[in-house]
Amino acid sequence: MQKKIDEIEKSIDEAVKDVQSSKTLQEIKMRFLGKTGEISALMKNMRDVPPEQRPSMGKLLNALRQWSEEKFAVIEQRLKEFELKKKYSDEKIDVTLPGRVAPDGALHPNTLIRNELISIFAGMGFEVFEGPEIENDYYNFTALNTPADHPARDMQDTFYLSKDLLLRTQTSAGQIRVMENKKPPIKILSPGKVYRSDDDATHSPMFSQMEGLVVDKGITLCDLKGMLDEFARKIFGEDVKTRLRPSYFPFTEPSVEVDVSCFECGGKGCRLCKGTGWIEVLGAGMVNRRVLEGCGIDPDEYTGFAFGMGIERIAMLKFGINNMKLLFEGDTRFLKQFKS
Ligand code: DAH
Repeated sequence: MQKKIDEIEKSIDEAVKDVQSSKTLQEIKMRFLGKTGEISALMKNMRDVPPEQRPSMGKLLNALRQWSEEKFAVIEQRLKEFELKKKYSDEKIDVTLPGRVAPDGALHPNTLIRNELISIFAGMGFEVFEGPEIENDYYNFTALNTPADHPARDMQDTFYLSKDLLLRTQTSAGQIRVMENKKPPIKILSPGKVYRSDDDATHSPMFSQMEGLVVDKGITLCDLKGMLDEFARKIFGEDVKTRLRPSYFPFTEPSVEVDVSCFECGGKGCRLCKGTGWIEVLGAGMVNRRVLEGCGIDPDEYTGFAFGMGIERIAMLKFGINNMKLLFEGDTRFLKQFKS
């Protein structure tokens, strides 16, 4: 037995001689002290030892176990300290290194104007409704008093997806969806992307509009004018005035084109207003009775006004941008200038 014990001591010494990590040490420890380890096996064999030899054998084995446990504990302690030191030095950071600065983003000028418009109109009690960008012919044209053979269809070059489906050419399509689903009083604002086959310095195949619609008892053109005055003062400046010029849209009667007095020259005439003192900003009018009727609203009981403006156009006017393409190119040198 003594021989066996000596052998085990020797092989433990041998095994731990070059141990480098506490994980390997743990494995070695299991090999000897684990449930099926060599020392545990010897302990189990005690059953076969004659009773009179058991006390002395037991003593020897216990001494072996204690010796090996202590040995493992000492090495383990040493390895743990070493590993901790290594971890600290590996993870050491140089706090004097300058940090990497992530450049801040900024809101796109279109988003700035969209948010500003929503906030102005929300202040007047308008709620936001967003309609789908893929529309059918009915909502984009027919229900807006523009049947298939109507010449006004030529005012907008439409992208058709099929005979009936198209990319909406105007957010006005959303007016119909709202009126079909909601009883007056209605006061909604509908921002969104629209699409037309059109492309030059002031037109893009995709651009954004902001539509407004108010329907209630006793709404008149004066209400429209008052609301537009408020809008123009808030977005372009306190001294800005509006004027209405007769125009034509199939879904409004009467229809108007709305100009604001030039906020650059105060109306004297400059390059921005092309010497006229006025700048055209949007289309509007009283909702055509046929449109109301089509949506199940009695035009003898209710009247309404609607307006629609191009968000890019407002952004270009307000920020002095002369080419619409700048708003779609995503050039950060341009966009940075709008950082507040
Ligand atoms: N939908 C028109 C356009 O895209 C703009 C417009 C004009 C909207 C008059 C309206 C309106 O709601 O009343 O050219």
